[in-house]
Amino acid sequence: MTVISFHDRVAIVTGAGGGLGRTYALDLAARGAQVVVNDLGGAKDGTGGDASAARRVVEEIEAEGGSAVASHDSVSTPEGGQAIVDAALHAFGRVDIVINNAGILRDRTLAKLEPQDLEAVLAVHLKGAFYVSRPAFRVMRENGYGRFVFTSSNAGVFGNFGQSNYGAAKMGLVGLSNVLALEGAKANIKSNVICPMARTRMTEELLGPLASSLDPECVTPMVVYLASEACEYTHEVFSAGGNRYARMFIGLAPGWFAGKGSPVTAEDIAAHIDQIRDQKGYVVPGSALDEIAGLVAQLRG
Ligand SMILES: NC(=O)c1ccc[n+]([C@@H]2O[C@H](COP(=O)([O-])OP(=O)(O)OC[C@H]3O[C@@H](n4cnc5c(N)ncnc54)[C@H](O)[C@@H]3O)[C@@H](O)[C@H]2O)c1
Repeated sequence: MTVISFHDRVAIVTGAGGGLGRTYALDLAARGAQVVVNDLGGAKDGTGGDASAARRVVEEIEAEGGSAVASHDSVSTPEGGQAIVDAALHAFGRVDIVINNAGILRDRTLAKLEPQDLEAVLAVHLKGAFYVSRPAFRVMRENGYGRFVFTSSNAGVFGNFGQSNYGAAKMGLVGLSNVLALEGAKANIKSNVICPMARTRMTEELLGPLASSLDPECVTPMVVYLASEACEYTHEVFSAGGNRYARMFIGLAPGWFAGKGSPVTAEDIAAHIDQIRDQKGYVVPGSALDEIAGLVAQLRG
């Protein structure tokens, strides 16, 4: 069995002062990584801040003989993202791994959602991941090595009542990871997405009886694997929770090809809608170009 070690690797884990992020930071450090434990230390809705959240996790790591530094910058500004990456460079001289995990909730149905609830959620999840990843990507490209894990959610991939802001941000992260995976490929930078299910302060009121089966530690091994050199996959999305691990994907079905150059009508679509919707024989394109290549082949006959 492959032994997963992070000796000489430097990892940034955002939102690692509690919940899932803390478990990632602890496991990475136990396996030899030098870790930047980032956390703003605010409330579940993103208000407030407390530097002690990140510091406590650093103390836990150090008590076990590991190596870590605390950062309580917010991911949600370009300056904050840069400062988090700089913390890794100053303390450890490089960045090999970024786990974009920081998150907040402002759940409301779309009819009741205020623009500030959208802005706050996009700022932490989507823009925050961008602001941390961009400076880290530049360093990794120079080093010819990198691993990114972005944190999405089934609330985005499949949808969840009352989470339009969160769902939009979380699906945006899938797009960000997919593009980063393509742009990083030549430099041995891999980027994947995790959709966790776990009992944390974010979910404890939502899970009911399921809560006892959803230890955050059940998500940790999948994320740690994706962050490791052993992971050769990129551009993928995984569900992890309650000890079940599964790939999630957006597939492209064969659909209906109406033939080259023959304009079709809405009525033609209605007539072929069963074939258009049929999922049998789907593929999972590796990029937008992959999808286009399939169409070009059909157009050329
Ligand atoms: N728990 C689940 O079942 C579940 C499901 C799907 C997705 N997620 C995602 O997993 C991630 C971790 O969530 P969790 O469940 O551990 O909840 P959590 O609230 O325990 O962890 C989120 C952490 O992010 C930190 N944070 C918030 N805003 C920040 C900012 N601007 N800068 C830096 N840190 C900030 C918080 O202080 C907190 O410690 C989140 O992205 C969440 O959306 C969790």
